[in-house]
Amino acid sequence: MALKSSAGLAASALVLALSLSACNGSKPEADASTGAVVDSSIGAVDAGDTIEAREDNFKAIAKSMKANKAELDKSTPDFDAIAKNATAMVENAEKIPALFPAGTGPESGEKTEALATIWQKPDDFKAASTKLIDASMALRTAAEAKDLTATKAAFGQAGMACKGCHDEFRKEDKD
Ligand code: HEC
Repeated sequence: MALKSSAGLAASALVLALSLSACNGSKPEADASTGAVVDSSIGAVDAGDTIEAREDNFKAIAKSMKANKAELDKSTPDFDAIAKNATAMVENAEKIPALFPAGTGPESGEKTEALATIWQKPDDFKAASTKLIDASMALRTAAEAKDLTATKAAFGQAGMACKGCHDEFRKEDKD
């Protein structure tokens, strides 16, 4: 099962990271306020894995958009299919902010199209994610009501939400 093996991989990567940090001789720091000993290396994010996870999430979002576009191009769109795709978009859009933890931007040295602006204007980035969540919810509602006009309008809003965020927070695509 793909999920299980990737979880296993992440676990072994963590063990490796921990043992490597031990080899480096990095000393756990004492927390002055509590006297507790904390190791700052624990809980560090793997930038490469996180970037891959968010790219997969965006790919899934794009797939839902494409499927809905195909439905709306038909003379009789399948509203149930559109509603289902919209539900997936809501769920995936809700994951966006958490997939951009500090340290996973261009400064990580990993290949990413994320601009540093994301971490400079976190509230704006969150608001841009919320726009997509809201548009996807409106899309689901309109599709459930089998209201073609409202479905098309919400689909357009979702598209604007992609563009709005990409214009401000994603490195311009050269291809
Ligand atoms: C809140 C901001 C935001 C919203 C909303 C958003 N995106 Fe993105 N998108 C990004 C950023 C940032 C990246 C670059 C991620 C990276 O390379 O680390 C990206 C990357 C992508 C990618 C490339 C993934 C890959 O494999 O590299 C696709 C495709 C994509 N977005 C499609 C969409 C579509 C379609 C929508 C709307 C339905 C959308 N995005 C909405 C910010 C957003």
